[in-house]
Amino acid sequence: ARLVVLVSGAGTNLQALLDACEDPAYGAKVVAVGADREGIEGLARAERAGVPTFVRKVGDFTSREHWDHTLTDTVAAFEPDVVVLAGFMKLVGADFLGRFENKVVNTHPALCPSFPGVSGPADALEYGVKVTGATLFVVDAGVDTGVIIAQAVVPVEDADDVESLHERIKVAEREMLVENVGRMAREGISVTGRRVRFGS
Ligand code: GRF
Repeated sequence: ARLVVLVSGAGTNLQALLDACEDPAYGAKVVAVGADREGIEGLARAERAGVPTFVRKVGDFTSREHWDHTLTDTVAAFEPDVVVLAGFMKLVGADFLGRFENKVVNTHPALCPSFPGVSGPADALEYGVKVTGATLFVVDAGVDTGVIIAQAVVPVEDADDVESLHERIKVAEREMLVENVGRMAREGISVTGRRVRFGS
């Protein structure tokens, strides 16, 4: 299966996928990596792995819709079976979701539907929950509202700050992402209401 991965930052989730794809039994290959900004470690990781990259910045377009349309066409040219948003800090639009229906997945560093948005680890810490984690879901038009493919749970320790908690979440998140994207690549998924199962 062909994976396109979109990143905005460090790209440790991307790296976990690149590493997994080295095993032919994994059944997937990262065919392109895209970003909404230049000069990030995620793009450097792709380049080191010999994977083609592209950048589409919102600010270079006359409207958000135009950006989304161009991003959609660019990703579509790589004919992905799964599009992974791996720390991609932009909401993709209607064109994108229409073109890749049930093929776009994202991870969120909290247990959805708790603590959606950009500060999941901080919000969990602030609220005082004793467990949190990461959620892999099929992207829809909302913020972290898509149907859930998998979740991983991590404890919140008394001594945690946002950084230590997010780091613990990211370890679990990467493992969950690799395992479930691999299964999606090999078996496909079917979505009925809010229920997801592997197999087509
Ligand atoms: C991950 O925790 C992701 O869920 C969140 O940002 C982090 C990205 O990490 N949205 P990386 O760029 O893959 O290292």
